[in-house]
This record gives sequence, structure tokens and C-alpha cells, in this order.
Amino acid sequence: MTDALPKAVLAMRPATLAEDLFGPACAGLTGLVDASPHILEKFDDPLGHDLLADADVLVTGWGCPPLTGAVLDRAPRLRAVVHAGGSAAAVLDLATAAERGLALSNAGEANAVPVAEYTFAAILLSGKRARAAERLYRQRRDYVDREVELRDTGNYRRTVGLVGASRIGRRVARLLAQTDLDVLLYDPYLPVPDAVNLSVRLCSLPELMTASDVVSLHPPVTAETTGMIDAAMLGRMPDGATLINTARGAIVDQDALVAELRTGRISAVLDVTTPDPLPADHELWSLPNVTLTPHIAGATGSELRRLGRHVIDELARFRQGAPFAYSESKVS
Ligand SMILES: NC(=O)c1ccc[n+]([C@@H]2O[C@H](COP(=O)([O-])OP(=O)(O)OC[C@H]3O[C@@H](n4cnc5c(N)ncnc54)[C@H](O)[C@@H]3O)[C@@H](O)[C@H]2O)c1
Repeated sequence: MTDALPKAVLAMRPATLAEDLFGPACAGLTGLVDASPHILEKFDDPLGHDLLADADVLVTGWGCPPLTGAVLDRAPRLRAVVHAGGSAAAVLDLATAAERGLALSNAGEANAVPVAEYTFAAILLSGKRARAAERLYRQRRDYVDREVELRDTGNYRRTVGLVGASRIGRRVARLLAQTDLDVLLYDPYLPVPDAVNLSVRLCSLPELMTASDVVSLHPPVTAETTGMIDAAMLGRMPDGATLINTARGAIVDQDALVAELRTGRISAVLDVTTPDPLPADHELWSLPNVTLTPHIAGATGSELRRLGRHVIDELARFRQGAPFAYSESKVS
């Protein structure tokens, strides 16, 4: 460890995001990096050029402009990029970073915590049919006989299907292991021993869709996952089942989903849609069996400090010349 602090540049938008991550005046970074008082929202101005010229490490966040080859050319001392979000791929091309010998880190594990918590809550409330029960109660403004009108509900020995043993999917599985729900998992890349450790039963996607009372989606968007939840898969869901999507809208054939939801046969909890947000006149806004949230499953409000803590720990490793604990190097 040298005495001089590495020069850091923070690049994110809005600039207040940096305080939400690292505290007032970014106090959490004190002693770890020489963080310029300037938080860049763009690179292509004289201030951006000056700061990049000296930067050893870039701390990027949501809204960071792309780190193109031209931007990186202006940062000859740059050794690392620490991204306060799911993947540094959001701000630069991983192959370019590898060519330039940049060490990359991301806060995907820290961001997975609130998404998994949101999902866990959504699964349990879907099992209780809380949304439908609330609607009924409001309409009636009187006694609801649970044993008659809400018979087919509850979170005991019912089945949840998870699609994708991603960072988030694994966390959801671990939270579900504390319940009396049976958990199925579809992930063609998960080794069987890992499934055993997660207390889930691996199965095919069609089997999962047919057998699950609640299906929750957690894969990344790839060529393989785009549109994977299509009309045929949705048609397999049992009457009364719920689809939860906190991953990305593109994983679901949204027109097919709307067609199913319109019948009232299934319900959905959607934190993401295509596009995201939806146009004001989209049918999903008005369907009573749909819960729409504005992409809030990931870190919001107080949870941003968890992302910041994660980045601070990575910067401490960088300062000591140690490798990142959450290094991102694969070109996927
Ligand atoms: N709603 C939000 O606020 C929010 C926040 C963070 C992440 N996300 C989304 O959540 C999803 C998961 O994010 P993550 O960071 O945990 O992902 P990740 O990068 O950890 O996911 C990679 C894993 O996905 C699994 N996978 C890959 N292809 C698959 C396939 N064809 N079928 C099933 N599983 C497959 C594999 O296990 C792979 O290791 C992503 O779509 C991401 O965009 C949403």
C-alpha cells in the first residue's frame, strides 16, 4: 500500500446519487481514494477531460455515460472501474476493458438483496391472494368468510417455481428454504449439487410452469431467455397462479401475457415491462389482476447505502493492492 491515495473519479447521474451511495460529501470514501469533489455526469467537457487524465479508478453508477474507447483514451492511468450496479457491462464493453487490462468490479450481489426480498414478499402475498382479497374487502366493506371465499390460498405445501439460479434467484431460493413451500427451479446451467444445496428440485421449464402456484423470473436477458415465457408456457400455468417478473420485460412475451391476464385466469406482479415504463394507454395499467411497480425491486432509498458499502469494501481492496472480491471479467 502506498501513501498516496488512488485518484478516483465518480461518474453517475444524477450527481446526488453519489451522496445516496456514500453519505454526505461522499464521506464513506474518505481515506480510501482521493475522490475529486466533482461528480461527473458527462465526460466530454474540459472538466471531464482533466479529471480523466489523472484517474486511477472510476466509480460508476446508474446514469453514467458510456465509457467508450474515446473516453478511455483520455484516461491513460486508469486501472479499474468499480460499478455501483449489477454489471460494469452497463457502462463499458467488457472485451474492451480486458484488452486495456482494466480490473472491473460490480455491486450485483448487494443489489440482489433487495430484489430477493421484494420477490420473497411478493411470493408470500401472492400465495395469500392478498391483492384479490383486498379488492373483495373494499367492494364489500363487510365480513369476508375466509374459509368459504379464500379457500384456495396459503403458503403451506404449495409450489413456487424459480426460473434462473442467478445471484437473485439463489437468494430467493435461500429465503424460501425457511418456509413450507416446495420450490422448483429451472436453470440449464446449474449443477445438480448446487440445486441440492439450495433445497430446490431442478426440472424443465414446461414442468415448472405446469406445477407452480407462483412462478418468479430471475434470468438475465440473453438470446436464449428473450421471450422464453411465451404463450405456450403461460398457457401451462394453473388457474389462479401468479407470474412475478423482477428480471426484465423482454423475458416474457408481453402480448401473450396480456391475453392471459385479460381472461382473469392468472395474475401477475410486474416490476419490469416492455417498454419500461409502459405507455400511458397500455392495457396492463387497467387490469385488476396485475400489480405494477416502477422498477423498484433493486436498491432504492436506504438500500443505496448497501451498494455504497459494497463499493467502499472493493475500493479498500484496490487501495491495498488486493484483487476485487467481486471481480467481473467474463465476456458473456
Ligand atoms: N427489478 C430490478 O430492480 C432488478 C435489479 C437487479 C437485477 N434485475 C434483473 O434480475 C435478473 C437477475 O439478475 P442477476 O444479477 O441475479 O443475474 P446473474 O447475472 O447473476 O444471472 C446469471 C445466471 O442466470 C442463469 N441463467 C442464464 N441463462 C439462463 C437460462 N436460459 N435459463 C435460466 N437461467 C439462466 C445462470 O445461472 C447464470 O449463472 C436480470 O434479468 C437483471 O436484469 C432486476
